[in-house]
Amino acid sequence: MAAAANHSPRVRSRYWTGLKLIRTYILALGLSLLVFTSNLDLRFWRRTITLEEQAYRVNVLEQCSYLKSPAGPPTDFHTRAQSDRFVPGTKAVLVQNAKIWTAAQNGTEIVYGDILLDKGLIKAIGFVSPELLKGVDYTVHDAQGSWVTPGIVDLHSHIGVGSAPQLRGAADTNSRKAPILPWLRSIDGLNTHDASYELARSGGVTTAQILPGSANNIGTEHKTILSPVLFFVLSDTCFAGGQAYVIKLRDTEQRSPISMVVEPPYSLNGSEFDHSLTPRWRHMKHACGENPSRVYSQTRMDSAWNFRQAYNEARKLRDSQDQFCAKAEDGLWDELGAFPEDLQWEALADVLRGKVKLSVHCYEAVDLDVIVRLSHEFKFPVASFHHAGETYLVPDLLKSTYGGTPSIALFASNFKYVKKREAYRGSEFAPRVLAANDIPVVMKSDHPVVNSRYLLHEATQAYYYGLEDVVALASVTSTPAKAMGLSHRIGYIREGYDADLVVWDSHPLALAATPRQVYIDGIPQFDVSYVSEKPESFQVLPKVPNFDREAAEAVAYEGLPPLEPRKARTVIFHNVNHVYTRSGDHIVALVDHETSESMHSEVVVQDGTIVCSGTAETCSSFSGNDIEIVDLKGGSIMPGLTTFGAPLGLVEIRLEASTNDGNVHDPLDGDPPSILGGNTIIRAVDGLQFGGRNTLLSYRGGVTTAVTAPVGSGFIQGASTAFSVGASTILDDALVKQEVALHVSINRSSGSSVSTQIAALRWLLFGTDSTQVHLKGNDIVQRVRAGESTLVVDVDSADIMGTLLLLKAEYEKASGKRLQLTFAGASEAHLIAKEISKAGVSVIVTLPKPFPDTWDQRRILLGPPVTAESIVTVLLEAGVNVGIGVVDEAYARNTRFEVAWAALESNGTINRAEALALATTNLEKALGLVDVAMPNDLVAYEGGDIFDIQSKVVAVICPRAHRTDLFV
Ligand SMILES: *[C@@H]1O[C@H](CO)[C@@H](O)[C@H](O)[C@H]1NC(C)=O
Ligand SMILES: *[C@@H]1O[C@H](CO)[C@@H](O)[C@H](O)[C@H]1NC(C)=O
Ligand SMILES: *[C@@H]1O[C@H](CO)[C@@H](O)[C@H](O)[C@H]1NC(C)=O
Ligand SMILES: *[C@@H]1O[C@H](CO)[C@@H](O)[C@H](O)[C@H]1NC(C)=O
Repeated sequence: MAAAANHSPRVRSRYWTGLKLIRTYILALGLSLLVFTSNLDLRFWRRTITLEEQAYRVNVLEQCSYLKSPAGPPTDFHTRAQSDRFVPGTKAVLVQNAKIWTAAQNGTEIVYGDILLDKGLIKAIGFVSPELLKGVDYTVHDAQGSWVTPGIVDLHSHIGVGSAPQLRGAADTNSRKAPILPWLRSIDGLNTHDASYELARSGGVTTAQILPGSANNIGTEHKTILSPVLFFVLSDTCFAGGQAYVIKLRDTEQRSPISMVVEPPYSLNGSEFDHSLTPRWRHMKHACGENPSRVYSQTRMDSAWNFRQAYNEARKLRDSQDQFCAKAEDGLWDELGAFPEDLQWEALADVLRGKVKLSVHCYEAVDLDVIVRLSHEFKFPVASFHHAGETYLVPDLLKSTYGGTPSIALFASNFKYVKKREAYRGSEFAPRVLAANDIPVVMKSDHPVVNSRYLLHEATQAYYYGLEDVVALASVTSTPAKAMGLSHRIGYIREGYDADLVVWDSHPLALAATPRQVYIDGIPQFDVSYVSEKPESFQVLPKVPNFDREAAEAVAYEGLPPLEPRKARTVIFHNVNHVYTRSGDHIVALVDHETSESMHSEVVVQDGTIVCSGTAETCSSFSGNDIEIVDLKGGSIMPGLTTFGAPLGLVEIRLEASTNDGNVHDPLDGDPPSILGGNTIIRAVDGLQFGGRNTLLSYRGGVTTAVTAPVGSGFIQGASTAFSVGASTILDDALVKQEVALHVSINRSSGSSVSTQIAALRWLLFGTDSTQVHLKGNDIVQRVRAGESTLVVDVDSADIMGTLLLLKAEYEKASGKRLQLTFAGASEAHLIAKEISKAGVSVIVTLPKPFPDTWDQRRILLGPPVTAESIVTVLLEAGVNVGIGVVDEAYARNTRFEVAWAALESNGTINRAEALALATTNLEKALGLVDVAMPNDLVAYEGGDIFDIQSKVVAVICPRAHRTDLFV
């Protein structure tokens, strides 16, 4: 909960003011009059000493008192009239007519009124007295009733320590020299040219803690890794390592890393600084579990010993410093010697002194237990556990941490995205379970694992799955501010706080909430902003479904609750507002009521077929014993969605080879095994597995058909297959089409040159029969050549897509056949939208929320609020057939929210049927799934529409399987 900000305790302030007085007294009197005339303790000054010696002693005593004094803001912090980050010349701003969520009163306070920003600070909230404005040069920002929140605070980010796009030259984040590196500092690798800064700001993120230990160079041992983002995950290795820094995400005049840091700890300048100052919080990262084990070929037992050994060194240093100081304070100057210093262990010694906000990357109970024991053995507090997949299963363990319960920093729903065994039991219900145990919950990005531009969306998802609304908002504002020790200046809208705030285009927890303006240190971050018109209903807190049962099961089954549906023959759905079905390649509305109660319909389903739809009276003939009644509470029945892009059905835990299909051979990488008889095209259908957790979670998210290509790190992936997501085995009439399309991938990150990859494609298309002898089992290649099957090229660069359009024209001219070509990924497709449309090429956008992860993707179209158009709207306007795909198996379940987002930021140009088509008919057409009998599964949503967060999936109607699957 968002309790009041952490003002310095009174006790400390008296103690500290006292020390300062003594110091002034000594300096003023002691130095000039010398000791014999003073009334100070004579033992202390027991013999005549030089002025130099005396200054040295004052210095030493000051240093010793600095060591002991707790970190935090100085007691007079709140008397500041100007921020230390104020940029001279910045005009004051009066934000008027705002609905201000201040984060105060545990997040329950909402103030209607104005906010005055001046001198980098929030000067007034609510009613701004004209007195305050006298003589102030200010601009007026009329918020017109918009919601305003504190700037979003990210507790776990790697912005700048890597780069977007990823480049080897900016992979400075992670030393692999040793597992214990507490002396490394993330700021020493903070790259000021990362596209992520602008992206994060455009999502309202104003402050981020930059942790080291991610985004390493691409080591050869990772060749089998599938997604570039995964490199970040796997190389998130710094162990007892790395000091972190909190930065503001705006540009600075100096353009230096240091000018971005909020309250840089004085120790950044070494040990020579003014020790009369109040120490500032320092920050450090630790990591346990699989990552350090993988990278350093060690076990969890080795990790734990590494920690103990390191802390033992730090303890030795701290003890010798304390002994030194005890002598100095006792006046035993003759026995003193030199102040014990050790640059390697001083930061860890400060952890032991409680002056470091420690962020510990830790998933499982076994690892959390190690850290909690360590905290007691060495007596240090832990500020936050990160990723923390199993924390919701062990609240009492967390509460027993030395120094108090840490905050828990989580992903909302993509815990399995991390693809490790240790993340496997994570749950989307973890935030609410932890909050119910009074444990502070933080949602974090781990940028670029989650693009931090969408950090607020993590909070929205946590809210969707049952975290209280005010706690969800606090989880990305005040709670992380507290966890990083900066809640005296950020995370709240409060008088005297930093002028960091976001003016939103809707309620912040509505889907696709987008900033209209972002202020950092009082500086507006957009000159112009483009936001789509949202329905009026988006201005209030959205309702969300009840997931109490699912949350209880997640805990009861220790993260692995059964996900299989119940099967039913006859089901009567009450209170149905919309029924849409497929008719050929179109979506048609069968029932389309607005929300008026009287219009609600009843829908009766027998053996997977709708047999009646109308009023309760018209359908009254259906009753009996074996009938299931499901109240949709004004919900909808909609066509099941199709997903493409992720290895759904081939992969369970990506980093556990024994759970996956494995990698197909790269023909550009050398000879294939002879038993394959040449470059056989591999078929995904032959490696399918059913009932995986990501597969079933997708099913529960309304995805009924998946198209999956084989997994490979090479040029040719192989032939994709289409299957029913809800099937329990391949024998369960699971296959929609055995071989769908031929998939190749062409980019600048592959082992071969782009021109070599194009040459290989040219060979596939033009090679004569005699040159094709090595392409056995190549029916799909022949079908592609004959224009009967689709060639899907995974490609992002507009240049490469341009070359492919020329190749297509050349092939068609030479062969007289039409080449069915589709671009998947296609991050830069908006640059050549017209040409793509003219060539009749379909596009599957797999990053509708764009991110320039690689050089090939660097020219993304940001979308609102930075640009009016998004990649999806540009392509649709150009007349391209557009589908939306998902590249990650753990995200397939979110397909409907991805599609909804694209529609919401289209400024009303994409209606419900068109949005549905993006993840059904358009997508299937793009893959060449035309003239195929689709299963026509229908999904029942309770409480709302397919595209809003008020609803949840409660049933899937399966005509082909003659049954209805129930999740209630
Ligand atoms: C905030 O929550 C805490 C813990 O539940 C409670 O003790 C406190 O009274 C609350 N404060 C306000 C202002 O509601
Ligand atoms: C470090 O020293 C420089 C130069 O004296 C000064 O400008 C800066 O404020 C110091 N930084 C800290 C964190 O004390
Ligand atoms: C959205 O559409 C309206 C008209 O329907 C137009 O006035 C407005 O400028 C558009 N906004 C954007 C961001 O394109
Ligand atoms: C680049 O292409 C290779 C195959 O040549 C593929 O394995 C890899 O995933 C692609 N990388 C990106 C970033 O698309």
